[in-house]
Amino acid sequence: MTETLVTPELDIDPYAEANLIDPYPMHQRIRDAGPVVRLTRYPRLLACARHAEAHAVLSNHVDFISGAGVGLSNFNLEPPFRPKSLILEADPPLHTQNRAVLSRILSPKAVLQIRATFTAVAEAMVERCVAESLAQGSIDAIAALAQPYPLKVFPDAVGLEPEGRENLLLYGDMVFNSMGPRNALLAKSAERMAPVTDWIMRHCQRDHLRPGGFGDQIYQAADAGEIEAAHAPMLVRSFLSAGVDTTVNGIGNALFALAQHPQEYARLHADPGLARSAFEEALRWETATQTFFRTAARDCQIAGHAVAENDKLLCMLASANRDPRRWTDPDRYDITRRASGHIAMGTGIHGCVGQVVARLEGEVVLAALARRVARIEVAGPHTRRLNNTLRALQTLPLRLIPV
Ligand code: HEM
Repeated sequence: MTETLVTPELDIDPYAEANLIDPYPMHQRIRDAGPVVRLTRYPRLLACARHAEAHAVLSNHVDFISGAGVGLSNFNLEPPFRPKSLILEADPPLHTQNRAVLSRILSPKAVLQIRATFTAVAEAMVERCVAESLAQGSIDAIAALAQPYPLKVFPDAVGLEPEGRENLLLYGDMVFNSMGPRNALLAKSAERMAPVTDWIMRHCQRDHLRPGGFGDQIYQAADAGEIEAAHAPMLVRSFLSAGVDTTVNGIGNALFALAQHPQEYARLHADPGLARSAFEEALRWETATQTFFRTAARDCQIAGHAVAENDKLLCMLASANRDPRRWTDPDRYDITRRASGHIAMGTGIHGCVGQVVARLEGEVVLAALARRVARIEVAGPHTRRLNNTLRALQTLPLRLIPV
């Protein structure tokens, strides 16, 4: 038998309010304690806060499965909060089959088709933000840009009707809260669970989806026999669960990063071609999806530490993205950094299937801003929307100084 190392233990609750408000000191404590750390507040929970081990766990879908849930609870031992996702919470071979279809629908080639529309909407929305900022002295960049932009472009591309899209934000908030413990945040977002879930499931049906949109293309794949017909609405649900709140916060956090770093915004303004790398670096620096979990399928090891079957592995993406073992000067937001290799969008077979769309949205919003706005200034204190998985802003008051 191979000898295993003694796994350090920490009495830290990643879901304590103070840690959700400011996770960075907690990240450092867990990273410094070791490559694998037992968090004793929850049963059988091992945390990987360093880049190397978080990356290794996500890359090993054989030992570390998603089918028992990618949140804190273990679906082998307790029932899931909603019927399991047929991609995010699935393992091969089911995952492989469904993933192939969604990957094709959201492929770089397919996403090229929507680029012009996404750019035009970004430009129009930035123009409205500039006008509002001039008229009122400032804008709330979350309400005026980070939320409405993804809520317009992505559901349009999926083929959803315009009415009722606020349900997508409520659903996203609930799904990402459900990956944590059954705490007050989950209870609060689950208050409206029945009507919101109802709306979502209704809008996953083909008769609610514009022919030719991303949603309808899933049904076409079912027509062609590539996926089971019964899986089509559930795969549309994956687009609706994962495709909006994530980009809202990705864009919100990028605006926050740029507002906090006027010299970086000045570089972006001077060269709007840096928009893509400014967004990428924001994903690394202020990671929208802070954590995802895996479940050990068998007794195994990580970095010499014993892992037992059914242990939950907490992959701390945000912590990995600021691990000084991987990044030089990790706390610095630097829009020309080579940020590739961050794991804000995961990695391995479950790496974000919507990443081309997400990057397109981030890039065109930041490029439109860079072209039209000479400076952005913080116009008041920001507030946070706490969520068990997402790093989210509730408000972000900014002043936009146009060219
Ligand atoms: C900035 C925006 C986004 C971020 C930060 C993000 C983050 C992530 C992460 C970290 C994962 C991996 C989960 C895991 O390993 O368990 C993931 C998977 C996924 N994402 Fe995204 N995402 C974003 C945007 C989107 C968009 C626009 C879509 C559109 C449909 C999407 C759909 C999905 C789906 C369906 C999966 C599951 C893939 C699989 O299990 O094979 N995401 N995302």
